[in-house]
Amino acid sequence: MQFKKICVIGLGYIGLPTASTFAAYGLQVVGVDTNPYVISTLQNGGIHICEPGLRMLVHEAIDSGNLTVRETPEAADAYIIAVPTPFFDDEQGIYNGQVYRMADMRSVKSATESIVPYLKKGNLVVLESTSPPRTTIDLVRPILERSGLKAGSDFHLAYSPERVLPGQIIREMTENARVIGGIDKPSAEAGKDLYAHFVKGEIILTDATTAEMVKLMENTSRDINIAIANEFSRLTQRFGVDIWEAIKIANRHPRVKILNPGPGVGGHCISVDPWFLVEAAPDLTELISTARHVNDSQPQFVLDLIRSALDNDLTGKNIAALGLTFKPDVDDLRESPAIEVVKLLTQAGAIVRGFEPNKTDTDIPGVEMTHSLEEAIVDADLLVLLVGHLEFIKLDPMRLRELTQTRIAVDTVGGWEIQSWIEAGFKLVRLGVGNYQ
Ligand SMILES: NC(=O)c1ccc[n+]([C@@H]2O[C@H](COP(=O)([O-])OP(=O)(O)OC[C@H]3O[C@@H](n4cnc5c(N)ncnc54)[C@H](O)[C@@H]3O)[C@@H](O)[C@H]2O)c1
Repeated sequence: MQFKKICVIGLGYIGLPTASTFAAYGLQVVGVDTNPYVISTLQNGGIHICEPGLRMLVHEAIDSGNLTVRETPEAADAYIIAVPTPFFDDEQGIYNGQVYRMADMRSVKSATESIVPYLKKGNLVVLESTSPPRTTIDLVRPILERSGLKAGSDFHLAYSPERVLPGQIIREMTENARVIGGIDKPSAEAGKDLYAHFVKGEIILTDATTAEMVKLMENTSRDINIAIANEFSRLTQRFGVDIWEAIKIANRHPRVKILNPGPGVGGHCISVDPWFLVEAAPDLTELISTARHVNDSQPQFVLDLIRSALDNDLTGKNIAALGLTFKPDVDDLRESPAIEVVKLLTQAGAIVRGFEPNKTDTDIPGVEMTHSLEEAIVDADLLVLLVGHLEFIKLDPMRLRELTQTRIAVDTVGGWEIQSWIEAGFKLVRLGVGNYQ
């Protein structure tokens, strides 16, 4: 199938790189976003998200005339939907006494509806948003068929999950293997013709629901693997073992690959997607649900660690929180466990100063956000490393001791080397490292 013009609906972390990459490979691309701020920023030569290499890619795409952006779709040969699929903040399900989060599919619905007036025979529609099983068939297809056209016979419909790593999106978008699940074989083939414009990795064709499950299984297995690492960190702490050393030794077994523990699991994907499976089949997802609860309770475990480092009294204590994003070296705060930790600290009576070098304009209720490390730590009673940003990992404790009054530090990510901190006169408390008494 030939494509000249495509519409990418949703210009966020996924849609904007996708739209710009297609444009860089010569397609006419209309990027659509309902957020006027996103459109005006892009039209005025700016960019609203931070991702290495993206600014230049977007500028080149717009300057070449191949990428235009607007608030509503236009007629095109293909439509790609890359809108958010979070969970509802205020609605929860309950199964056997366990609560679970529910997928908010309103953006997928409205993005699909926005295509209907433009849909023509021979078009291809691809859903890229991570979605609960059967979304393409049970939610997207009936909306598109309101056009009077039939999926399969009149237009192609496919699901293609995005599997890029934030921070590496531009490279991974072209290099990763891509899964394309069609509602029928010609739809999958049409998807392959489209993505073959820039994908250099293998293109794997399957059916739509398998492709949806593949994406959810990938992120769910990662969530479960982090949950076991977090649970191990609780056990090693209790039994006077160093989790970081124990993991290193265990991983020397040829068939063992334990991940690292941390303050929890965040981001728009791994902390969200497993719930889509739980909601879809709560009677079959006991393990998935439990892993989610373990990871969601890890910030509380970190709070207890900080509290015990301060003789079990947080009231009025000044805590410097280093890093607030959901993972190192990105600017994305969504579902960040670091934010959960600082919220718990303020609720427990501590005074928190936060420093997030990749997002200094962040506003977190009850937390004083600073513009420099120095400001955050100068009066602190305790420093806590919540995100392993490279610039924090590289901090020299000898230099740091000149900048802060405290000599107590907590490392929740296994980023600081114990000996150098002891030599600099600090008491370094590390997640998952217990003192057995
Ligand atoms: N960010 C990632 O690393 C990543 C990785 C893999 C998969 N995903 C999935 O990709 C999807 C998109 O994620 P994202 O991170 O790009 O989201 P995002 O929040 O960064 O961007 C989504 C954009 O869609 C716009 N939007 C919302 N409803 C719209 C509508 N009806 N019409 C047009 N625009 C609309 C929003 O204004 C926003 O700018 C999600 O399902 C996510 O789970 C994300």
